[in-house]
Parts: sequence; C-alpha cells; structure tokens
Amino acid sequence: MGSVLIKNIKALYGIDESGAKIKAGSAMATLNALENAWLWIEDGLIADYGSMKDFDLFEERFMRVPGIDIKDASGRFVLPSYVDSHTHLVFSHSREEEFVMRIQGRTYEEIAAAGGGILNSAAKLRQMSENELLEGAYARLQEVMKYGTGAIEIKSGYGLTVEDELKILRVIKRLKLISPIEIKATFLGAHAIPTEFKSNRKAYIDLVVNEMLPKVAEEQLADYVDVFCDQGFFTVEETDLILKEAAKYGLRGKIHGNELGITGGVQVAVANNALSVDHLEHMGQEEIDCLKASTTMPVALPNCSFFLGLPYAPVRKLIDHGLPVCLATDYNPGSSPNGRMGFVISLACIQMKLTPEEAINAATINGAYALDLSDTHGSITRGKRGNVFITKEVPSLAYMPYSFGVPNVETAIIGGRTVAVNY
Ligand code: NIG
Ligand code: FE
Repeated sequence: MGSVLIKNIKALYGIDESGAKIKAGSAMATLNALENAWLWIEDGLIADYGSMKDFDLFEERFMRVPGIDIKDASGRFVLPSYVDSHTHLVFSHSREEEFVMRIQGRTYEEIAAAGGGILNSAAKLRQMSENELLEGAYARLQEVMKYGTGAIEIKSGYGLTVEDELKILRVIKRLKLISPIEIKATFLGAHAIPTEFKSNRKAYIDLVVNEMLPKVAEEQLADYVDVFCDQGFFTVEETDLILKEAAKYGLRGKIHGNELGITGGVQVAVANNALSVDHLEHMGQEEIDCLKASTTMPVALPNCSFFLGLPYAPVRKLIDHGLPVCLATDYNPGSSPNGRMGFVISLACIQMKLTPEEAINAATINGAYALDLSDTHGSITRGKRGNVFITKEVPSLAYMPYSFGVPNVETAIIGGRTVAVNY
C-alpha cells in the first residue's frame, strides 16, 4: 500500500461521491471533473482531492508524511484506472494461423467447427504446466496494468477437462496472490464441447455440472460462472441448467451471449439474475426490453467485432433506452489478441458512437459493477482504492480515443504505488 500526492493535475476526471453503483442512460454522458486539481492517496486509498487554489491549506499535512511520493501532473489528466470485466488472459499460444485463414475467407464459426478456435487453444493448453501458464499470464497482466487497467476478470475455458480447467483456475488464484490489482475468476468449463464429447454433448454438460463445478467450489477457485451460450456452442437449456447448478454454490453468471446470433442468451442470463451478459453483437427490441427489467449489466466487447469483422453491439441504442453499458477487452488469442482498454474506448467512440465520457464511464464505474467492485473501484471517490493513471500530455479528454492505438497512459498507479511509467 502506497501513498502519493499528485499536484497540478490539468483535470481530475471521474469524481463521484454520489454512491451510485452504475451510470445508466443519459447519466453516462457526464464524467465529473475538477480542473487544476490535486489528489492524495494515503495507504493505498483515495484520501482526498481538491483544487490547487486551496493547496496551501493542505500542504503542511502532506509534508508531514515521511518519504512522501510527490508527482507533478502539469499538462496531464488523472483518471480512475480501467476495470476490464471480461478477459481470457490465461492461454497457451497465439492463433495467428486462424487470423490468416480468415483473411483468406474462412469464418470464425467454420474454423471452430473444424476443430480450430477454442479447441485449438485447449489442445495446446493441455500440454502446458501450471507454471508455464502462469508465466505467460503474468506477463500479459503486467502489460495491461501498464496501459491503465486496475482491476480485471479472468476466465478459464481453454482446458475443457476437469484437470485442465482446475489448472487454469489455480493459475488465476496464484495471479491474485502475486498481483497488486484486484482479480476476479470465472469458471468457463462450458466454453466449447471438446472433440472427445462431440457425439455425446450431454456427457460433457454432466462433467461440467457434476465434476468440475463441485471441485471449483470446494477449492474456492471461482467468483463467477460463464457459459458460451450461442449457435454452435451451448444451448439456452444447457446454459440454464449450468447457471442453476452454479447458483447452488453461490456462483453468479457472467454469460457470453448473442455474439453469433439472436439466440436467447440475454433472456437466460437475466432469468438467472446474471451479473452481466457479454458480447451482444446481435440484439433485438425484446433483448433490450429484457435488460431494462433487470440488474444484469450489458457488456460490449468491440475488439471482437473489430478483429472478427462482426457487427458492433448496438450500445448507442441501449444507452438511448436508458440502460447502462460496460466495455471490456475480451483479451484472448482467438477474437481479441489485445488487452488495452484505451483501444476499446477508441473503438466504442469511432464505431459505436459513444462519446468519450460515455465510453470512459463504461470502462470504469460500470466495469466495477460488472465485477462487484462498485464500493472500491471505478471512480475517484474518497475511500476507494487508489487506482488511477496519469495521462501523457494531451490537449483534451477526447484526444485520448481520437488518437486511436496510441497509448496515452504515462503513469499507472495501483493502491498508491507506481506500477509503470511509459515514456
Ligand atoms: O469471448 N466467444 C467466446 N469466447 C471468446 C473467444 C474464444 C476463442 O476464440 O478463443 C470470446 O470471443
Ligand atoms: Fe470472451
């Protein structure tokens, strides 16, 4: 736990003392800011902030702190760290051969049906030890922290055997112990039907429900459960069964739904009180109405649309219907080999017509809701974790998504400690 004083901040964005757990509809357009500000993080928590005009009144208090870390943020903004509520960052290898196949005309679904995709990743992951997996995942985690992520969710789902699913979840558990950022683990045994169960999918669902889930619960390896509820993957009935079984162990759902079609993923997630339903590239009015009558957070993953050439989730429409929207990276080797939240925000602005303020709210406060971290993450609020980043010298907030692909995070701070400086 560290302490840091950041002075001369051009604008401190994301201030929220309202206690609100989400921003929905028109409220998403507002990102409260204090210009010419200071921010004081003490023992890992946001202690106070204010205007530089009144700084003299506080200076004595700060100077009494031994070894105080003082940063000058002249010309730079400070924002709450991003909360990335959907990733698969424990994986074995990259899959650029499938990327080339898609360039040559094959679709994601064709490649998956032919044993590529998730099954390709599973075959490779099964060959790797827990330590090898940890090494790769740790490096990816360091990388995303460097670019402003301050809390993250990581799913299993590339094991698809009892032993290999547990192996991934144990890697996530070790990451939780060695990383300064908050990590939530999601059990995604129902990510694809493994080849050896192709002719008997019921036997695989039984394995997920009767063998994997009890072991995951016994070792306390997961915070949530996920199912890839979509055409060619798991049906609504199978998803419903898995969600109901997981609920017996106190695991709430974070569902992959409506990526490949209007398949009932939203409805089954909402009916089971899922915390979030993610992807949503295919949505009709019924799905929107269903979300309106729920507390389930809609999560969009624009990297996946960009990378696979899918439609973008109609989040502009969702917000215009008064709904909240969350953005996440979906960092994984098949549909989003990039875990930088800054690029997600650019895509949301460019392709989904979110304003920069809406996109940042979606990537911070609403991300925190999608991980049950509303009380500690996602905004500049006294008492919340001191997870913030200082931008590079940029002319305005809108410049950040405008300069797509350019990392605008200069200093990443987690719990009051500097974890990365990018020059
Ligand atoms: O969220 N859609 C399901 N799962 C991942 C991709 C998995 C893969 O292709 O490896 C996703 O896009
Ligand atoms: Fe995903």
